[in-house]
Amino acid sequence: MDVYGLIGNPVGHSLSPPMHEAGYAALGLDARYVTFEPDADAAVAAIEGGADLGVAGLNVTVPFKRDALRAVDAAPLAERIGAVNTVDYGPMRAGETDRPRGHNTDAAGVTRALAHHDVTVDGREALVVGAGGAGRAAAFALADAGATVHVANRTAERATELAEDVPDATGGGLDDLATRVAAADLLVNATSVGMEAPEETPVPADHLHGDLAVLDAVYAPIETRLLREAAAAGATTVDGAWMLLYQGVEAFEIWTGEDAPVEAMNAALRAELE
Ligand code: ATR
Repeated sequence: MDVYGLIGNPVGHSLSPPMHEAGYAALGLDARYVTFEPDADAAVAAIEGGADLGVAGLNVTVPFKRDALRAVDAAPLAERIGAVNTVDYGPMRAGETDRPRGHNTDAAGVTRALAHHDVTVDGREALVVGAGGAGRAAAFALADAGATVHVANRTAERATELAEDVPDATGGGLDDLATRVAAADLLVNATSVGMEAPEETPVPADHLHGDLAVLDAVYAPIETRLLREAAAAGATTVDGAWMLLYQGVEAFEIWTGEDAPVEAMNAALRAELE
């Protein structure tokens, strides 16, 4: 049996175990997906030591994604983003490498969620609101997929710093948000605004328009105020569960080498969210 898991703190609320286990069941794989919740000072050693425990792969979540870089041989994209959310012990267990391989599948979560909804990224103007971990992954993902990216963040300095790392990107505060949204084809909410707070939105309704595709990284609630108002404005909407799904799908495919059973994983995830 192969053991996969999620390491973070806290991880009790995670939707990843049912999502991945639905994938194993659909493909008839003998595997389990469990959670690990170490203290901060033990996390890097735990990630380094996964292969010694016979673990096949780990997802990494808050607050260890940045620390995980120190425990792995990071793929170039994970290195650029500065965060690892997927650790693959496969090459190490096969004796090919002496460190686990680290990836960032949050970026693919963004682009694959948009692709699933037939949203074109190449050549488009993308506005990423938020410059934390989710904002970093989204900005790199969209720029690498051919969009011109502007990052807008409450703390403007954080956005300008991120934009310096992302090809052809610009960054700033929220004061010119109306103009930025008007000029955008793609809007990604990568802030926590709206999470568990259905009355909050990061972008006022009167800024939204029908030529937008809007992806909200928030998945609780699944239909945020932003998505509801974007739909009312005629925009294409993509909820945060698609991002969560596709970061998991990408990890599943790295670990197993198989095409993930996307429908089975999506059904399990949506069932949990409802
Ligand atoms: P994550 O890794 O999930 O992106 P994070 O690093 O804590 O989490 O980042 C949270 C993001 O939401 C940040 O962009 C934060 O803005 P600041 O950098 O100014 O803190 C943004 N955010 C959180 N609460 C916000 C609010 N009430 N209004 C606007 N932005 C908010």
